[in-house]
Amino acid sequence: MTYSIIGSGKVGTALARQFARNGIPVGIANTRGPLSLALLADELGSTVAAQTLEEALAADVVILAIPFSAHRNIGGTHANWNNRIVIDAMNTYGVPPQELGDQASTDVVAAAFTGARVVKSFNQLPAALLAKEPAQDGGRRVMFLWGRDQDANTSVTALVEKLGFAAISLGTTTDGGKLLGLGGPLILQNIIKHQ
Ligand SMILES: NC(=O)c1ccc[n+]([C@@H]2O[C@H](COP(=O)([O-])OP(=O)(O)OC[C@H]3O[C@@H](n4cnc5c(N)ncnc54)[C@H](OP(=O)(O)O)[C@@H]3O)[C@@H](O)[C@H]2O)c1
Repeated sequence: MTYSIIGSGKVGTALARQFARNGIPVGIANTRGPLSLALLADELGSTVAAQTLEEALAADVVILAIPFSAHRNIGGTHANWNNRIVIDAMNTYGVPPQELGDQASTDVVAAAFTGARVVKSFNQLPAALLAKEPAQDGGRRVMFLWGRDQDANTSVTALVEKLGFAAISLGTTTDGGKLLGLGGPLILQNIIKHQ
């Protein structure tokens, strides 16, 4: 399974740190090309590869850590995402409510990624917390996830756990996207789970 992070800002960098911490290879890309990521890749070591956008968008699992306004542009790079998993770590700050209508933002994203299985995760915490070691006080920081495809949810649960978080999947529940979307009750929940 290959992984990539699109976006090297606060969230993309926080996630890259978690991949590096756990020795899971990941590519990372932004609008400015791999040279702009050389310092970050140097700091994080060989598990984090600075890539072109085209390379990063070819991964089996693509994590979106970009402004919501950029998602259609990225979705449109592939006519069909061939069942690949796209993890939506975006929040909809500044997005006019009429753009979402009554839909969960992840469903709006899914509409722009034809043939992808979109799972929402990694959006619930501020980037500074997302970057921290998930093991805390004898427990692990909780990371929620939700998506409409149960197999994709299971794969993302496994990834979230490998990164050291305590994954809580909301499964395919109808309202899960809204619970985990901006303004939902799970946003900003910093919970430490003790086994
Ligand atoms: N910041 C938080 O605490 C936080 C927490 C949870 C969720 N989120 C959500 O996570 C997402 C990213 O937030 P952020 O704070 O990390 O933003 P950020 O620091 O502004 O970084 C955005 C990144 O997206 C890249 N980007 C923008 N358009 C792109 C495109 N078309 N193709 C490829 N890369 C593109 C930018 O590339 P360049 O570097 O080349 O400009 C930049 O690396 C947002 O949706 C935000 O709502 C943020």
